[in-house]
Amino acid sequence: MPVERTLAIIKPDAVRRNLTGEILSRIHQAGLQIVAIKSLRLSRAEAEGFYAVHRERPFFNDLTEFMSSGKVVVMVLEGENAILRWRELMGATDPAQAAPGTIRREFGTSIQNNCTHGSDAPETAAFEVSYFFAAYEL
Ligand code: CMP
Repeated sequence: MPVERTLAIIKPDAVRRNLTGEILSRIHQAGLQIVAIKSLRLSRAEAEGFYAVHRERPFFNDLTEFMSSGKVVVMVLEGENAILRWRELMGATDPAQAAPGTIRREFGTSIQNNCTHGSDAPETAAFEVSYFFAAYEL
């Protein structure tokens, strides 16, 4: 299995509810390595740039407002099949559709306020990691 890197975000809803430790613990328990991690607040423009692929979607304005509403924790996770494994830990985008035991099912409160983000493919992971981290941080 390929060793991959993926970008993970703990979103403002989860940070506000002090779920950061619980989510980091799940990452460690799953055997994923945290290569880099930082806490920051996105500007509206930075959130729009990150989610540019969704700019035509009806939820784009609400999403970028939400993502710039408070601190987020951004990290690079590494491990065999890290992209899929982090997506499995998160569960489906909509918490109501997510499998029992997943982060979004247990802690998400709406399709927007779904606690976490993860890259969905190697190409998006490369873009998303480089959006937040310089080479010397990795
Ligand atoms: P994320 O995995 O970060 O990717 C895009 C985000 O848009 C998604 O999680 C949700 O937080 C948000 N979102 C809001 N409404 C929708 C929707 N109808 N479909 C997909 N994503 C949505």
